[in-house]
Amino acid sequence: MTDLTFTITEAERRSAEDREAVLANPGFGDHFTDHMVSIVWTQDEGWHDAEILPFGPISMNPASSVLHYGQEIFEGLKAYRRADGSIVTFRAEENARRLNDSARRMALPELPVELFVESVRKLVEIDAEWVPSGDDQTLYIRPFMIADESFLGVRAAQRARFLIIASPSGAYFTGGVKPVSIWLSQGLSRAGQGGTGAAKCGGNYAASLLPQNQAAENGCQQVLFTDSNTVDTIDELGGMNLFLVRSDNTLVTPELNGNILPGITRKSLIQLAQDRGYSVEERAVTVSEWREGVADGSITEAFACGTAAVITPIGQLKSPDFTIDFGDNAPGELTLSLREELTGIQYGTREDRHGWLEVI
Ligand code: PLP
Ligand code: COI
Repeated sequence: MTDLTFTITEAERRSAEDREAVLANPGFGDHFTDHMVSIVWTQDEGWHDAEILPFGPISMNPASSVLHYGQEIFEGLKAYRRADGSIVTFRAEENARRLNDSARRMALPELPVELFVESVRKLVEIDAEWVPSGDDQTLYIRPFMIADESFLGVRAAQRARFLIIASPSGAYFTGGVKPVSIWLSQGLSRAGQGGTGAAKCGGNYAASLLPQNQAAENGCQQVLFTDSNTVDTIDELGGMNLFLVRSDNTLVTPELNGNILPGITRKSLIQLAQDRGYSVEERAVTVSEWREGVADGSITEAFACGTAAVITPIGQLKSPDFTIDFGDNAPGELTLSLREELTGIQYGTREDRHGWLEVI
């Protein structure tokens, strides 16, 4: 508990019928629950005015700095409904800490970790009916912080707002756990050395949209970014981290080089793989290595991972000059078994031996 008291304004809740219609086929990020969290920060007063409000539009001064200079950060985590009806969240404290890492980089205020966790809990509690129970369904929770000082000078804002909205969601990639195709970004980067790649800030995603469009034009579901200097060293996908699996059961993933988001799924999978006795190499990984490894059989699987994507097998990496293809269009064995273990922990069918879950 923190010493901030939340004011709660009850929403006019949607009918059970409406809610069930949404939950029957929620899509991803298309629908929102009845409430949201809002907490205000000012330089003079710190964090105050903590509220649970009806979900709805927020009014902003058109001079608000987030609208001009993009001073914004966000997080993504999920609440899961277990077979016994109980609800859990997964490693919310990690999201709170990463929000603060992003806040420091973007000159936004840090939010106490307990306040973040308590805010998530309060929203999930009040909107518990919106946590779906179907296969692969979750309540996707989107905390974010915006600079909303009305001032056109370019400096860090002295007023900010932290909000949380939540969206009942199904799988990010439709069509079940089937391998996706990835487009190798052609000369467009999302991050560079000394930039904001390791922060979860809106600008990184804005920079990924044009290459993501190019991926779609080339029949791919996601875009892969390489290091902007070498154009061969792999950073990550537009919204996910990447792992390669070697035939000797070693997992290889790009090291946290300051350009990539330190994914919580990535960190969890490293732990789960090491628990099984696999070695995990966090180091520079190149497209050339991937290409040669698939050709000579030493790289057998590739997968993307993140809160939204969970673990998604990668079947192909495409570029105008070459295609790396695993050939069988089937998810890899280790990919599937790690996915099964992680989701098993999240949905309560596997033991949570690392204490990753918070029961709501
Ligand atoms: N990389 C990027 C760019 C992302 O947007 C995400 C998703 O949040 C990830 C990696 C994976 O992070 P996490 O596993 O914490 O969701
Ligand atoms: C998440 O996984 O939480 C993200 O923010 C990535 C995005 C593709 C939704």
